[in-house]
Amino acid sequence: GNESTVSITVVGASGDLAKRKIFPALFALYYEDCLPKHFTVYGYARSKITDAELRNMVSKTLTCRIDKRENCGKKMDQFLKRCFYHSGQYDSQQNFVDLDKKLKEHEAGRVSNRLFYLSIPPNIFIDAVRCASMSASSGNGWTRVIVEKPFGRDSESSAALTKALKQYLEEEQIFRIDHYLGKELVENLSVLRFSNLIFEPLWSRQYIRNVQLIFSEDFGTEGRGGYFDNYGIIRDIMQNHLLQILALFAMETPVSLDAEDIRNEKVKVLRSMRPLQLENVAVGQYKSHTKGGVTYPAYTDDKTVPKDSLTPTFAAAALFIDNARWDDVPFLMKAGKALHNKKAEIRVQFRHVPGNLYNRNFGIDLDRATNELVIRVQPDEAIYLKINNKVPGLGMRLGRSNLNLHYAARYSKEIPDAYERLLLDAIEGERRLFIRSDELDAAWALFTPLLKELEEKKIIPEYYPYGSRGPVGAHYLAARYNVRWGDVGVEQ
Ligand code: BG6
Repeated sequence: GNESTVSITVVGASGDLAKRKIFPALFALYYEDCLPKHFTVYGYARSKITDAELRNMVSKTLTCRIDKRENCGKKMDQFLKRCFYHSGQYDSQQNFVDLDKKLKEHEAGRVSNRLFYLSIPPNIFIDAVRCASMSASSGNGWTRVIVEKPFGRDSESSAALTKALKQYLEEEQIFRIDHYLGKELVENLSVLRFSNLIFEPLWSRQYIRNVQLIFSEDFGTEGRGGYFDNYGIIRDIMQNHLLQILALFAMETPVSLDAEDIRNEKVKVLRSMRPLQLENVAVGQYKSHTKGGVTYPAYTDDKTVPKDSLTPTFAAAALFIDNARWDDVPFLMKAGKALHNKKAEIRVQFRHVPGNLYNRNFGIDLDRATNELVIRVQPDEAIYLKINNKVPGLGMRLGRSNLNLHYAARYSKEIPDAYERLLLDAIEGERRLFIRSDELDAAWALFTPLLKELEEKKIIPEYYPYGSRGPVGAHYLAARYNVRWGDVGVEQ
């Protein structure tokens, strides 16, 4: 019959990402009945293991949602039966021909749709794409390839990668993943803006004083130093995750929710931005720190990192969008590893209330106590708005309060992992949350001159202790624009 099948091949099946994210996400989709009736998962890697060994490896990565323990074990077994392994080199067409044969057996004459997830280092991307497209493409359905960053390390290398990919794939077949776009609160950003009358009218230079995009992790590069040292925090987090959030935040209303309409608006924002300048950036690197008898390592203690590495593990930057809506509004980014907490959030600081009706005599300095909208992407998802209100009582005293949409309190449902949404979208051919090549070019154009300058001038990062709040340079940078980071200080 003409029923269709989907074969999902995870290339690089024994890697960290596959184990931590891809297999668990596929299982979660299966559990939620989101996968098509006929699907097969293939792990592809070099090591010579059996299907049973792959299943054993995958089974250790699977978890069940807290609210649905009952038939979870049974579901896992059913899922694992759909998982297979194929051992091969990433650059061997013959090995992909063999894979193709196996996939065909599972497809059993149905329409064949094939999704390849490239979870492999960038130096073997192109080989794997060549082999997969030439020897294991679908004959009668679609073939799609999900690729993970790094998409190059500057404009030139990114363009070269895109060009090489396009020798074998059409743009519509390439799904460049940025998993931050799959996060629930990032998805909600447009809903918040465009479906509530009270936000969109304020969404401009007229009412917004600055916007902050903050990412922090409370662990270092542990084990990933080899990859990280060639990229650094600016390429690892800012040029992609934070910039994507910025584009969604700042874009004009799209014509529709179609992928092309949304991506057109995002790319317009990126192209309206000023390339980053060295004076608008502060960089840092974590150093060893001893606390409570425990010594935390310096970045350069990582065995895979050169002792004299200047690679930033922290960066803060001020960015500007030179269009009518955002002229002169600083968009401040801050991203760092080995800091005191793990958090990702968007902070919108509004202008102060004009006039002087409630002045300091009421216990609040309204120049400082402006409204602030916080979108906490993770952990403990929330959207809250800081307002000033009267403290109850006979006197007239003002205090700060939060109007708070706290997800854990509002929804009992667990929030799906970003990879679940993105894998499902790729299977369904929904491209809205994937990065188009012109977006990628525009993103690199903003960061490439700065990245080159940092490297050429061998800019020394400011060293900050592991587990601290990061270098003080970030505060000087914000102060230049009369801004205070919203995530520090007493009330957050
Ligand atoms: C990845 C970065 O893209 O995102 C990592 O390469 C980082 O360095 C990770 O740790 C953070 O993702 P999440 O979803 O855990 O916040």
